[in-house]
Amino acid sequence: MRSTEFISVLFFVQIFGILRDCVEDTEAVMAEGKKKHIGILGARVVGKTLALGFANKGYPVTIGNRDSIALKESWEGAKHPNIACESYFKTAEQAQLLVLAVPGRVAAAPLTECEIVHLNAKIIIDATNPISEHGPDKGVLRLFTEFNSSLMEQFQRRFPGARWVKAFNSVGSAYMVDPPFDTRPTMFICGNDPRAKAEVSKLLDEFGWDAEDMGPASSARAIEPLCMLWCLPGFLENKWNHAFKLLKHESK
Ligand SMILES: NC(=O)c1ccc[n+]([C@@H]2O[C@H](COP(=O)([O-])OP(=O)(O)OC[C@H]3O[C@@H](n4cnc5c(N)ncnc54)[C@H](OP(=O)(O)O)[C@@H]3O)[C@@H](O)[C@H]2O)c1
Repeated sequence: MRSTEFISVLFFVQIFGILRDCVEDTEAVMAEGKKKHIGILGARVVGKTLALGFANKGYPVTIGNRDSIALKESWEGAKHPNIACESYFKTAEQAQLLVLAVPGRVAAAPLTECEIVHLNAKIIIDATNPISEHGPDKGVLRLFTEFNSSLMEQFQRRFPGARWVKAFNSVGSAYMVDPPFDTRPTMFICGNDPRAKAEVSKLLDEFGWDAEDMGPASSARAIEPLCMLWCLPGFLENKWNHAFKLLKHESK
């Protein structure tokens, strides 16, 4: 082989290697047991709870909101060695897996700020609920979606390259990480990507939950309204200390 041919072959081998490394990077992180870099979009009670939950379990976490300097100055959790505070854009740029924790009705704004290129191919755990700006009626939350639609389907249509998985929406933030019940509660999840759901199920297991896969993204039409049921004892009797458990009769 002549030296120019050899250099060409070497060049293509290198390019192929770089591309392959990029594609396999995310899967390899999991396979090697390395912790994925988690990005949390939203920094109120859910965002902060999940950020600390992931950070305490050894994950590098970036949490994003509109004013990351104020967040860093005002939140004790920002001192955690595994936590960084950034803009929505930087959070999405740096993270390998994202959690969406903003009000459902404004979610398009932070997602657009993240830019599609930083959402594509990433798992996004969708903890949001389509709660209306109008308050509850007799303890029943009002949603801005119809029964035959859901917020996560809207996200999936608008950002089709992302791998959306609904989770964490139908329990209070106090029980999202290591819930202290006698038995493991059930986290209902759904989404169109089976591998994404399998990965989220593993994370939920680590967080003390039994994940129950309820099907594709359209199943969010049933999972999102569970927040109405979960909140009822809270609004009516100030009881917020519960979680859902799916019982199964194993037939022989
Ligand atoms: N609270 C719970 O226990 C609970 C349980 C299950 C599910 N959820 C769902 O989880 C989501 C987060 O709930 P949350 O109670 O933690 O907080 P939230 O009040 O719903 O969201 C707060 C976050 O959203 C950001 N935000 C608000 N308006 C924005 C806008 N126009 N553009 C960009 N960002 C905006 C805020 O940013 P700044 O910090 O910059 O103001 C803040 O980081 C909601 O969809 C909620 O329904 C809540």
